Amino acid sequence: MKNIDKKSLEKAYKLFDSGTIDTIEVGTLKGLQDIHSYIFEGLYDFAGKVREVNISKGGFRFANSLYLKEILPKIEQMPQDSFKAIIAKYVEMNIAHPFLEGNGRTMRIWLDTMLKSELKQVVDWQFVPKELYLQAMERSPINDLEIRTLLFENLTHKIDDREVIFKGIEQSYYYEGYIKEESLRLEK
Ligand SMILES: Nc1ncnc2c1ncn2[C@@H]1O[C@H](COP(=O)(O)OP(=O)(O)O)[C@@H](O)[C@H]1O
Ligand SMILES: [Mg+2]
Repeated sequence: MKNIDKKSLEKAYKLFDSGTIDTIEVGTLKGLQDIHSYIFEGLYDFAGKVREVNISKGGFRFANSLYLKEILPKIEQMPQDSFKAIIAKYVEMNIAHPFLEGNGRTMRIWLDTMLKSELKQVVDWQFVPKELYLQAMERSPINDLEIRTLLFENLTHKIDDREVIFKGIEQSYYYEGYIKEESLRLEK
């Protein structure tokens, strides 16, 4: 694991251990930016900053940077009063992809803050397989049923369980290729 990625992983653990996570605005752009700033401060010079260039992944073009200022306030105003609504909001924010890098890791934490505050549940990410997750996210701009079903099956009420949270963070870094599969199974 590269030093920069390890540092970010440690900051992500600290976001929870310090209790800072409970001070983050739930479901807003500011909340998302604050999470991004926290886990990438000093590592990415664009920590917390909305991108000004266009990006794409696997042939999918995320929202045009010229429109981000217009659409981000609309996304943050989307409802978050049911599981279905929260997933729809998450999918829209993923289509916006406001940061140059770190969208996936930041947005999964942001998603959990909404699920926690509205439903008293979070995703138990350690049990959401990488390939299924990434396929469902690729599909999500067209249809969010796959990601909604996958995440619904893996909701847990263990919202304050440090092991659930930390294994979830590690899984999130694993999805993006920052942790190797073998390392996930090792005791720390
Ligand atoms: N083809 C795609 N279409 C839509 N969303 C995608 C696609 N590929 C990846 N994603 C989403 O984007 C995330 C990766 O975004 P990225 O900014 O690279 O995050 P990170 O830096 O944390 O790796 C994935 O976790 C997934 O949720
Ligand atoms: Mg990435």
